[in-house]
Amino acid sequence: MEIVILAAGKGTRMYSDSPKVMHSIGGKAMLEHVIDTALTLNPQKIHIVVGFGSDSVRGALGGHARAALFNWVEQLEQLGTGHAVSQAIDDIETDAAANPVLVLFGDVPMITQETLKTVVSCCSDDCLSLLTFHAQNPGGLGRIIRKGDGGVTAIIEERDASEEQKKINEVNSGIMAIPANRLADWLDALENNNDQQEYYLTDIVALAVAEGKQVVATTLSNEMEVMGVNNKQQLALLERHFQMTKAEQLMSAGVTLRDPARLDIRGEVSCGKDVVIDSNVVLEGTVSIGANSNIGSNCVIKDANIGANVQVLPGTQIEGAEIGDDASVGPMARLRPGTVLGKATKIGNFVETKNAVIGNGSKASHLAYLGDVELGENCNIGAGTIVCNYDGVNKHKTTLGNNVFVGSNSVLVAPVILEDGAFVAAGSAINSTVPEGSLAVARGKQRNISGWKRPVKKTGE
Ligand code: UD1
Ligand code: MG
Repeated sequence: MEIVILAAGKGTRMYSDSPKVMHSIGGKAMLEHVIDTALTLNPQKIHIVVGFGSDSVRGALGGHARAALFNWVEQLEQLGTGHAVSQAIDDIETDAAANPVLVLFGDVPMITQETLKTVVSCCSDDCLSLLTFHAQNPGGLGRIIRKGDGGVTAIIEERDASEEQKKINEVNSGIMAIPANRLADWLDALENNNDQQEYYLTDIVALAVAEGKQVVATTLSNEMEVMGVNNKQQLALLERHFQMTKAEQLMSAGVTLRDPARLDIRGEVSCGKDVVIDSNVVLEGTVSIGANSNIGSNCVIKDANIGANVQVLPGTQIEGAEIGDDASVGPMARLRPGTVLGKATKIGNFVETKNAVIGNGSKASHLAYLGDVELGENCNIGAGTIVCNYDGVNKHKTTLGNNVFVGSNSVLVAPVILEDGAFVAAGSAINSTVPEGSLAVARGKQRNISGWKRPVKKTGE
């Protein structure tokens, strides 16, 4: 089987500079959703017809893991869905009898593998297979015309439909499986004598009927699955539908969501038992959360591996981090890429970490910056401690052994080493090794001046 995905349209009604199919649902471009579902059918080839903004579409998807299967086809002028398919015809194996060509739309992103399998299985040498649905509001969609015995005879676009035909609520999803050996002839026969003066793929239905071929329609009851996106309202509607599906999957696996309508998943999430996720949480990329962990409200977590019994407190941002069991992070902490927190660590409010490996039991409870650091076990970083890892040109590393205590408001100027048991007095600026078990005091000595007269306010001027 070969698949053609139509993705050349501008999407005028999106009022956007990016091509319609690049707008995302759940953090993934609509076109990529369609491609990924198409790939599950093991096609020989996927022809992707691009036009408006084709460079950006190809650029964004060229790096796809299965891109070797893609055949990019340019449709320079968007003259209709039939014209779009005909741009790919030279690359499609059309001699093979009973070889279905499956046509998908880049703007119908929620279609499932199951439905497509059914549509494909209904297609044969003598049979054109369509996917239709009953729309609550069929406005703007192609109407399915059936004759007395119920057989499909044509698809009429709304703009070309009579008042009587407009009352039909069975509509075309756009998805069809076409016998490959008839495709070229049918495309050749298309005309553009319609209201939009476009070559409509849907007109092949009437051509098939005229040839005495069968036309089978699979009718879906789940409208969301075949909803096309033509404007931002429909994009938002599908986004919510997608998010509710994701939330339901998590809840079915035992996750407690304080409000399933206030969780956004833009990637793959896996959770252990008794995970609780509070409201307004965004999970992106690949996120795993271990058993009994809690995610507080307003957290944004991207590409993270969170262990068991972890408390992520409200307002925390995490990206590219690993968090060990029993750790506590936040509220309002920021873990940046390369952060690896050991077991029972604590990263408190307004602490930022980047390329930071923090040993078991170590803590930075308040207001600190830890970049390019490696901490041993059971260290304590005082409030206001800053690691100067950047000299304006290069980054340098700071290494702490086990049981190191850094007093509040200290500055660790990298590269620097604090050996096991080192103790840094508050307010120190440390730029050379603190040997094992030593106290480092690196700050101005206090002077007290007795009898100090406070300044008084000037008068009479
Ligand atoms: C199309 C169908 C309509 C169906 C509806 C379902 C036709 C004539 N109409 O209408 O029956 O009910 O989808 O959503 O097929 N495209 C191209 N090149 C073109 C024109 C379109 O690649 O020249 C692509 C678009 O990028 C889009 C898809 O084809 O991905 C559908 O085009 P669109 O303009 O959205 O068609 P609809 O008016 O929605
Ligand atoms: Mg459309």
